[in-house]
Amino acid sequence: MQRTQAMISVQPNWDTFHKLRTSEKIPFFSKDDRLYDCLFAQQFSRALLEHLFKTADALRAATRKKEGADHVARLLSHKRAMLYFAQPSTRTFMSFLNACHVLGIKTSEIRDSSTSSEVKGETPEDTVRTFSSYVDMIIMRHPAPGFVEKTAWLMNRTGRPVPIVSGGSGKDQHPTQALLDVYTLHRSFAGELDGKHIVMVGDLKRGRTVRSLTYLMKNYKNVSLSFVSPKEFRMETDILDFLRRHNIPFTETEDFLGVMKTADAIYMTRIQDEHDKSGESKGVDYSPFYFKKEHLKVIKRGCVIMHPLPRRHEIEVTVDEDPRAVFWRQERNGMWARAALMAYIFSVDNKIS
Ligand code: CP
Repeated sequence: MQRTQAMISVQPNWDTFHKLRTSEKIPFFSKDDRLYDCLFAQQFSRALLEHLFKTADALRAATRKKEGADHVARLLSHKRAMLYFAQPSTRTFMSFLNACHVLGIKTSEIRDSSTSSEVKGETPEDTVRTFSSYVDMIIMRHPAPGFVEKTAWLMNRTGRPVPIVSGGSGKDQHPTQALLDVYTLHRSFAGELDGKHIVMVGDLKRGRTVRSLTYLMKNYKNVSLSFVSPKEFRMETDILDFLRRHNIPFTETEDFLGVMKTADAIYMTRIQDEHDKSGESKGVDYSPFYFKKEHLKVIKRGCVIMHPLPRRHEIEVTVDEDPRAVFWRQERNGMWARAALMAYIFSVDNKIS
C-alpha cells in the first residue's frame, strides 16, 4: 500500500495520527511502494534488508577504485541533504555525512540549535520546514520522542515533501542503527541469521538501539533473544509484547555469565544516563554487565561481540584485539548501510553494481 491524497486527507491532525499502530502509519511514510521516510525499524522487510545489504556490498566494491567511486559520486550529485542533529552524535552524523559524499550528495548541517532561528522563537516544526526549502532530504536526530515522525508527517502534508531519515529519535527508535547492526550480523554469519541466539546487555529500558534491533528480528526464523540488564533498566513491555505477538522466544536475566555461553552475538550497550530525570542511574550496580577479557574463554568460537558505541566501560579495551570483537567494523558498516538506504530512497540503487 502507498500513501495517497485520500489517506492524507483522512488524517486530520497529528494527535489522531500519532496514536495509530505503527503498521497503520507505515503506508503514510512510503511512496510508489517504497520506503520514503525512514522512521521505524518495522519498515524494513527481510526482502528490503537483503536488497540493502547487496547494495551496500556493491557500493563497497565499486568505490575501491577511482573509476567506480567517480561513477557512484555522480549518481546523486544533483541532490542536497540537511543533517539536523539536535542531540550529540559522532558516528551517526559522520557516517551519514560521508555516505552522502560517497553518493555525491551535497550536505549542510545544524548541530547546535542555538545557532538557528529557534532562539528567536521559531518552532522546531517551522525550522525543519525551512530546511526543506533548500534541500532534497533531511537526516535528523532529535531528543523529543516522536518529533522525527511528526516532522515526516508534517512534510508529507506540504506541497514540497522531502524524505526524512531518522538518525535517532528520543528513547524510541534508531532505525538506521538497527539496519547497520543487522548488516553486521549478516556479514559476520555469511548471510545466515536464522536460528541465532542474540544476547542484548545493558540499559535496555532507555536504549533506542536495542529497541530497533529487536523489531528487526521479526524478519528471521527461529531467532531467540536474551535480555540481560539491571532490574531497574529491563526491556520495556511494548517490546516484550511485540516478541510475544511474533512468537519470538526471549528470556530476561541478570546472569550475564550464564547466558553468554550460548550466545551467537552479544550486543553490549552503555547506561543511558542522559535520559535521567531525577538521577535514576545513581546507585545502580552496572558492574555485572561488562564484557571482560576473561569472558573470551567462555563464549563460543563463532560468537560476535557488538556495541553501537560510544562505550564507557562495557567492553574491556583489550577485547578489541579478538577477531570476534566486531564493533569497529560495525560502525564502519554504518556508512555503507546508510549510503545504500539513501541510494534506495532516491531510486539509484539499480545503478550500483
Ligand atoms: N551509535 C550511535 O548512534 O553513535 P553516535 O551517538 O555517536 O551517533
